[in-house]
Amino acid sequence: VQAPVLLGKTFTITAGPTREPLDPVRYISNHSSGKMGFALAKAALELGATVNLISGPVSLSAPEGATLFPIETARDMLNSALQLAPQSDVFIGCAAVADYRAATIAEHKIKKQGDEITLTMVKNPDVIAHVAALKENRPYTVGFAAETQDIQQYAKAKLKNKNLDMICANDVSVKGLGFNANDNALSLFWSDDCLNLPTTSKQQLAMQVMHALSKRLN
Ligand code: PMT
Repeated sequence: VQAPVLLGKTFTITAGPTREPLDPVRYISNHSSGKMGFALAKAALELGATVNLISGPVSLSAPEGATLFPIETARDMLNSALQLAPQSDVFIGCAAVADYRAATIAEHKIKKQGDEITLTMVKNPDVIAHVAALKENRPYTVGFAAETQDIQQYAKAKLKNKNLDMICANDVSVKGLGFNANDNALSLFWSDDCLNLPTTSKQQLAMQVMHALSKRLN
């Protein structure tokens, strides 16, 4: 009997959206459901890995056996990621992290005002870029790229600029795929190779990603 291909490997996977507060009752977020990231966690577990799952607010339950680290903001996610990444063999950033947050969080509910209001936003830290920049105990770092045009070009730029080992690009403009869908299609890129995974369920895709990844790890 062959040992499961990811036995002995520790994965840290981010999933879902981040939620950036504006005041005590409002926030900015996105449509990520966590389905893709949770599917990756389940697939890694099935192949024998130990899995930490850092997740924004989603309505899914963590796959049995995963250790869940619930977070809300991008900065929360960065804290958890930097704690867990150095003890991990693989880090996968599947979360849809908000690129910006409100410059100030109002202490009280923002009152209705005139016809327009202006919100000043500031850049959030890039979670996966921080992980990929670790000088010691850097895990094999896998990003996702959510694109609506020029997928290959933008994904390859992210692979390079964020110093990732691998990136999984999805076209989130296709109806029925990407954010909050049950199915997806991915193009995987490494600096020297690529692999197209056509439309199927996120769970099946997750397993295909894990097999592609395990070949690279060995
Ligand atoms: O959750 P689902 O509904 O199943 O949807 C899945 C998904 C579409 C969200 C997923 O497949 C996906 O594409 N996730 C990445 C979404 C995204 O934010 O992509 P991006 O191209 O903006 O970011 C590129 C990479 O940098 C990602 O690995 C992202 O996690 C990371 N990032 C981005 C910004 C930031 N401040 N910190 C980061 O770590």
